[in-house]
Amino acid sequence: MEKIVALCKRRGFIYPGSEIYGGLTGTWDYGPLGAIFKKNLKDLWWKEMVQLRSDVVGVDAAIMMNPMVWEKSGHLKAFTDPLVECKVCHQRFRADKENEIKVHEKTHKEKTEWTTPQKFNLLVKAYLGIIEGQQDEIYLRGEITQGAFVNFENVASSTRVKIPFGIAQIGKAFRNEITPGNFTFRSREFEQMELEFFIKPDEAEGDKWFNYWKNQRMNWYTSLGINRENLRFRKHEEKERAHYAKFAEDIEYNAPFGWSEFEGIHNRGDFDLSAHNLSFIDEEGKKFTPWVIETSGGIDRSLLFFLIDAYTEDGERKVLKLHPKLAPYKVAVFPLLANKEELVSEARKIYESLKQDMMVAWDDRGNIGKRYFAQDEAGTPFCITVDFQTLEDKTVTVRDRDTAKQERVKINELPEYMAKKLS
Ligand code: GAP
Repeated sequence: MEKIVALCKRRGFIYPGSEIYGGLTGTWDYGPLGAIFKKNLKDLWWKEMVQLRSDVVGVDAAIMMNPMVWEKSGHLKAFTDPLVECKVCHQRFRADKENEIKVHEKTHKEKTEWTTPQKFNLLVKAYLGIIEGQQDEIYLRGEITQGAFVNFENVASSTRVKIPFGIAQIGKAFRNEITPGNFTFRSREFEQMELEFFIKPDEAEGDKWFNYWKNQRMNWYTSLGINRENLRFRKHEEKERAHYAKFAEDIEYNAPFGWSEFEGIHNRGDFDLSAHNLSFIDEEGKKFTPWVIETSGGIDRSLLFFLIDAYTEDGERKVLKLHPKLAPYKVAVFPLLANKEELVSEARKIYESLKQDMMVAWDDRGNIGKRYFAQDEAGTPFCITVDFQTLEDKTVTVRDRDTAKQERVKINELPEYMAKKLS
């Protein structure tokens, strides 16, 4: 983990939030490479879940919602974690995280005593209004989900959807986590990518669609390069299920800190639509309350696990073997020497031309070895070098990140070559 955290800072993937003022616990800022990586991840999810499907539409709902939403959805009462306090040092922990409790107990010489667990609500409060004393207390959304539910009838009446259909959404959520930690894994501000898939209310339909979505989601992660051996499904026991879930299974990753959830598949039954008093009228005029199968993934957690899974060391060489579709920069262009005008101008032309279709890095500092080293750490799949032979025969070397092999490619064939390699 330390190596990943250090690489993220060094290469501009992820920095601690508000770092120059000592940080803000549980917040992280994505740097130049992290921001592109995150956008790639979101775009790929959107393409898979919305663009390529005819039974899913997307929304982008507000983060601030009428507090009634959270009362009706059950979050004001039930969106809690059990909190305990160490009586020696008054640090607070989640009572259900036994490992974290054990680790803390080892830091004290004397026997640690704990307060009895209390329910701690995770919703983050905010205040809206311009007159002091007359401000409305609201909550930043604890899950993006409710934005899809409260718009259920709007979507149904403004589009041509028919059951079964889904509402997809990507956006920020906020939780007052008791113990943020493990880098971005447990943050107080994070992003979710979710599908709420509405089906006919029926146990058998529920199982059919639950299994369908579970497999779709697992396949998506492996298609983008995560090693299947590092992934598993885990069923929730009854006592750990969220208040809205009839049934739940997580997709977990074998992280350095243990198997960890990064996407949940939930059968929410009619819990939410009933709570908001919403229903659907089908083509025959029959009114009913659909059930919901939900796939809820964390952008930050999956990004972290894509990074961990892609990280490899080959002697001194550190390589992020990210799937080309996820890699922030698809290609880097170098002039062999920064002080040879003909090389620089030829390389610039290639750089400007490839930039029309993809993210391209430019580097003319240091020697070629150092530039490869930096691009390997950044996960750039290909590096193009313009050398003296280029000036004679209009070819460049293209070096492959994963094999470190080089081949010569004609400049006018580069766009086609890259498109093939990156698909
Ligand atoms: N709408 C259902 C829902 O929100 P969840 O299991 O509470 O379900 C779904 O959250 C996903 O959101 C998790 O699998 C995780 O990837 C992400 N997530 C939840 N809490 C998080 C946190 N504190 N920091 C980062 N990601 C988080």
